[in-house]
Amino acid sequence: MLTYKLTRRKMLMTLGLGMTSMLLAACMPVVAPTNQHTKEGLMTQLGEQAKALRAKLANDPHRPQYHFLPPANWMNDPNGLIQWEGQYHLFYQHNPKAPYPEAIHWGHAVSEDLVHWRDLPIALAPTPDGPDKDGCWSGCAVNNDGIPTLVYTGVFPQVQCIATSADGLITWQKAPENPVIATPPPGLDVTGFRDPWVWREGDTWYAIIGSGIKGVGGTILLYRSNDLIHWEYMHPACIGNKDETGTMWECPNLFPLDGKHVLLISPVPLRKTLYLIGTYAHHKFIPESYGTVDPGGHFYAPQTMLDDRGRRLMWGWLWEGRSRDAQLAAGWAGVMSLPRELFVHSNGQLGMRPVPELKALRGDHQRVAEIDIQPDATNLLKGLGGDCLEIKATIEPGNATEFGLKVRCSPDGAEQTRVAYNRGTQQLTIDRTRSSLSLTASRDTYGGKLFLADGEPLQLHIFLDRSVLEVYANGYFCISSRIYPSRADSLGLDLFAQGGMARLGSMDVWTMHSIWDSRG
Ligand code: FRU
Repeated sequence: MLTYKLTRRKMLMTLGLGMTSMLLAACMPVVAPTNQHTKEGLMTQLGEQAKALRAKLANDPHRPQYHFLPPANWMNDPNGLIQWEGQYHLFYQHNPKAPYPEAIHWGHAVSEDLVHWRDLPIALAPTPDGPDKDGCWSGCAVNNDGIPTLVYTGVFPQVQCIATSADGLITWQKAPENPVIATPPPGLDVTGFRDPWVWREGDTWYAIIGSGIKGVGGTILLYRSNDLIHWEYMHPACIGNKDETGTMWECPNLFPLDGKHVLLISPVPLRKTLYLIGTYAHHKFIPESYGTVDPGGHFYAPQTMLDDRGRRLMWGWLWEGRSRDAQLAAGWAGVMSLPRELFVHSNGQLGMRPVPELKALRGDHQRVAEIDIQPDATNLLKGLGGDCLEIKATIEPGNATEFGLKVRCSPDGAEQTRVAYNRGTQQLTIDRTRSSLSLTASRDTYGGKLFLADGEPLQLHIFLDRSVLEVYANGYFCISSRIYPSRADSLGLDLFAQGGMARLGSMDVWTMHSIWDSRG
């Protein structure tokens, strides 16, 4: 994103040499596959290095245990999501040398079950003097008649490149023809030209490239090709209004879903991802409605894939909510959201739910039911708590005006994060104003509209993973945030109501296992 790229420069200027050498000590070596490395040797070596890096950071109380993140250092967008021979491959924007974005590589991990991940060697690194010398930016993966192919943006300037693998997605060779799209369409004054999203119709490949037309608004530029190497520009497939949907659309995804087409865009400068639902015909996308994918203020640049069970799965980048200094000191930054299955809800909104495979992580279970939540009562869930939990709760609004659940509460309430539903505004929010006593953590309230019919209970499905909070509601809505409680005893759960009494119908709480325990 533009904002972090600007802040990155500032950050680099303020970094002293001492900090640089500390960061280098923690970095994961990028081993370019050469003839001296057999594939197996390389995998073992990198597997061991990744494990060692993960072990070094394992005691960090803010480091998530069951959300994917790299062994160390910086991560942003998910890239190249693809299922290959049954395995899920996840690539990601990564700086393997430091916890800030610079000289971006493609990190790589693989999973059999969408839950446990194994680190694979870095897939793409900038080639000195190549069209991606300053970074391998976001893109996607396609199956070109059995040849796995990555289509991505090289910088600077922003151009489109491809790479293929001949060894089952482990090592990648960049095409000698790169860049395969060397300039934006002549005659268009664009605000950016990146993040190709590619699909096939019959024998023809199509790509949309995230862009914007100066003075007009964000856009997706449509191209076609027979071989992924020679591309012909067609036209903008959709153009937005800069005042409504931003000036440049990053990381577009366009796909059919439940009889409609969905376009996901991450517009500069909005710092959130929008979905547009509409129709795609005659190579043009006509939006009929739009909304925010995850209004928690932390979810950005998602990518989707269709899996062999016909599910449209989505992962997004959950950025940090603490100061740059705190990120540098931690030695890592950026987490992937849980995989979410997308659908078009009967109310016309984009719906999402966590994949059922996540149940494999459930450990100890506790259940409570039928608790009256009197206004301003506290300590209603004594004995329940933790920092790695899955929680399913049904809360009946009663006559309360605002009600909900608190997580990561210290015994004296000095630290607490509120997941609150306000009946007047019909907003479900995550309130971080008291999440942390540390001044390095963000303190604000973010949320979005969730309509509950009269008497309809609030159904929360919460994934708490140390600094990550994903709150799914009523089977289709999701807000995500990041929290950094400073006290070791900020582990409690509680219920609250204001303006009247609400009632907990039932609540199931599971402790969650780490995804790195047994399989590394
Ligand atoms: C989105 C983004 C993309 C770009 C990548 C660079 O977060 O800015 O537009 O390709 O990140 O890391």
